[in-house]
Amino acid sequence: VAIGVLGAGQLGRMLALAGYPLGLEFAFYDKPVNAPAAHLGQYFSSCQQGDALAQFLAVAGVVTYETENVPLSLAEQIAKHKRLYPGIQSLRLGQNRIAEKKLFKQLNIPTPAYQEVHNEAELKAAVADIGLPAVLKTVTLGYDGKGQILLKEEADLARAWQKLQGDPLVVEAFVYYQREVSIIGVRNRESEMAFYPVTENYHHQGILRYSLAPAPALLGAIADQARQYMAVLLTHLNHIGVLALELFETEQGLLANEMAPRVHNSGHWTINGAVTSQFENHLRAIAGLPLGSTALCQPYAAMVNIIGSYGNTRAVLAIPGAHLHCYGKEARPGRKIGHINLTAQTEQQQQALMRQLAAYLPPSAPVLA
Ligand SMILES: Nc1ncnc2c1ncn2[C@@H]1O[C@H](COP(=O)(O)OP(=O)(O)O)[C@@H](O)[C@H]1O
Ligand SMILES: [Mg+2]
Repeated sequence: VAIGVLGAGQLGRMLALAGYPLGLEFAFYDKPVNAPAAHLGQYFSSCQQGDALAQFLAVAGVVTYETENVPLSLAEQIAKHKRLYPGIQSLRLGQNRIAEKKLFKQLNIPTPAYQEVHNEAELKAAVADIGLPAVLKTVTLGYDGKGQILLKEEADLARAWQKLQGDPLVVEAFVYYQREVSIIGVRNRESEMAFYPVTENYHHQGILRYSLAPAPALLGAIADQARQYMAVLLTHLNHIGVLALELFETEQGLLANEMAPRVHNSGHWTINGAVTSQFENHLRAIAGLPLGSTALCQPYAAMVNIIGSYGNTRAVLAIPGAHLHCYGKEARPGRKIGHINLTAQTEQQQQALMRQLAAYLPPSAPVLA
């Protein structure tokens, strides 16, 4: 039997790459005919003839997903026949910003002020309450900053409403954070939990550009707080698999931005930088295996996303400690098509290596300053 994966993008591909050494086999279910993971296991495309879903389920044992945008009805249907990990609860909450924020509040995890809005009058009223700047976001299906608009002044409201109306929307306070961080946790079928070091993340125009692990100069108390939030979420959700939590670090402490019930871009550094990658630990968790160590294998690690075009990958591979990960995707502006992982012995070395990757970073990246 194979591990069934809903979605055959780069995350599914990296799951398979991590699973082969464990003797695991894979089956993927997705729409496109040429998906990044299509050749890494049996592939069932819903665009091809025949009942691809039934064929997929016939070969899949445990089923997981690489994206939270799996239709809930499909997940519920699958969960009737198969073990689906992470479970329906994690998926349902993780695909809806309002549900996530309600959960954060319920579990005493601070989150920015927000209001659900159904019409332009409600948007105006919400902004009057929350203040400007604020961010208007679609409640579902957003990624890489898509489906959100920054509201700076009153005049932005009507235009933003015109653009996003039709989908359920939420408006939230703009956070003047010091930086963005994330924590990735994992919980297995025996309720064992493990946590990766808190990572610093830099986003540009809504897209993650790089991650540094561990987050530089992070106070121990803040790291403990992030771990505690993750532990509470994993336990409350009875979550099995990897869970990612994106946070804003502010002067008042951490504010939860969003969570993802899956392996996460801010954990890609773990492939080369941690004893056990997030992908391997996700598989261990859902396959009923013991978790592996989440410790760094060198004191410092980093990840730089390759966006739009591959650039000079020969030069990248000439950098000591640099590892290239290509997703087999067609290069297109603004599209994540790969990433580069770095490991280093010292923070100075990590910073120097990051500067060698300047061609892959926006000029505004703090790490280049
Ligand atoms: N309320 C906010 N205040 C400040 N920056 C924000 C806020 N919401 C989002 N952002 C910025 O936009 C990025 C993407 O937003 P996010 O809500 O994480 O959506 P997604 O990752 O699904 O596209 C964040 O990582 C952050 O850089
Ligand atoms: Mg995000």
